[in-house]
Amino acid sequence: MALFQYLELCELQQLFEGILPDMVELALSAPRLCTMPIPLLKSGMNHSLTLSQEQIACLLANAFFCTFPRRNSRKSEYCNYPEINFYRLFEGSSPRKIEKLKTLLCYFRRVTETRPNGLVTFTRQALTSPPDWESSQTQLKRLHITCKGTIEDDGYGMLQVDFANRYVGGGVTGHGLVQEEIRFLINPELIVSRLFTEALEHNECLIITGTEQYSKYSGYAESYKWQKSYKDETPRDDWQRRCTEIVAIDAVKYRHFLEQFLPEKITRELNKAYCGFYRSNSNVKHLPAVATGNWGCGAFGGDTRLKALIQLMAAAEAGRDVAYFTFGDAQLMRDVHEMHTFLAERRVTVGQLYSLFIQYFNEECKNCRTTRPHVSLYSFIFEKVSAPAASNPEQDSRMSHVTPEPQ
Ligand code: APR
Repeated sequence: MALFQYLELCELQQLFEGILPDMVELALSAPRLCTMPIPLLKSGMNHSLTLSQEQIACLLANAFFCTFPRRNSRKSEYCNYPEINFYRLFEGSSPRKIEKLKTLLCYFRRVTETRPNGLVTFTRQALTSPPDWESSQTQLKRLHITCKGTIEDDGYGMLQVDFANRYVGGGVTGHGLVQEEIRFLINPELIVSRLFTEALEHNECLIITGTEQYSKYSGYAESYKWQKSYKDETPRDDWQRRCTEIVAIDAVKYRHFLEQFLPEKITRELNKAYCGFYRSNSNVKHLPAVATGNWGCGAFGGDTRLKALIQLMAAAEAGRDVAYFTFGDAQLMRDVHEMHTFLAERRVTVGQLYSLFIQYFNEECKNCRTTRPHVSLYSFIFEKVSAPAASNPEQDSRMSHVTPEPQ
């Protein structure tokens, strides 16, 4: 029982005398706070749900005490929903579970001491008409790339990407402890989306606006540690929501490196990212930049350089600049920056890039017998774009050199 594992006797007493009774009171206030049934954000639904932070705290207190019925078996009608009850957090005594519990108890201490008074909106968005990537004339937008910082610390005011699982939140109530789980722990209001968000389809994403950060952490995965309570000073919008917009998009998990270069896989990832980045209320002229990083390139085994271009293309198509955090990888920062500059100077379009991906697959991947192609994607692109324009005029007009625009 991880809970007791980490608590010294005095702390245990403080816990039982302090937070737990308040959490029980919070959980028992459900009939007063949640007077309507919570609608489900089912697959294929374009729908928004707004809850108060107090309602969310109440629902999460219920999740802590595992009061949601028929949510623990994979055979119930909720088998296509993420787990919501916290029971797996109390199993075993790994340091991960203890640090996760510390983070969550920090949240419960804060919201039982002072009831939060904001709102949070959860929007399920489906992409019904994906762009025609091959014919896109869109040019890449601006890129700010750095190997320092993180999305949550340095993505203020931007659309912050959650490197999600299709069951949003992934292993947050279990063993998982990488980018998505950490974000769900330090902004625990994200966890309540697991109560009502059915698994994401290939053309869907979940956008969460208004969650508050309650903790600071250090480390990552095995070295993750709860540090301290954090006072989130992010301003609120007219709806009393913190101005923090997070989008959950799940990449494909690749077991074999070459699989991700298949055209249908490239198209799937472009559509998934675009689904997360585009906003239908096109009257918003200037959409904030996307704050992202190595999406799909950790637990899911994707190639960082390919995914960086895919996200740049999707963001450009959605009319957004990109702030890219390489999470300490300085070489990746240099490579992506060099490629972006090269493409932007030559005003290579999204469509031309997409065609280069197809060409790369056909020439370097399709008949490749080794785990990785001999020619890297970026070398291939540098060579093809720099090659003298071929004889056919169509080719000339698409790949000819233009003098770089004055910056
Ligand atoms: N900010 C910026 N970049 C980060 C951050 C952060 N806070 N945390 C991690 N990264 C970088 C790291 O380089 C990491 O290897 O993002 C990479 C990918 O992170 P993962 O979480 O492994 O993402 P992904 O490969 O998409 O795997 C998704 O992991 O968290 C679970 O539920 C999630 O099942 C899903 C899977």
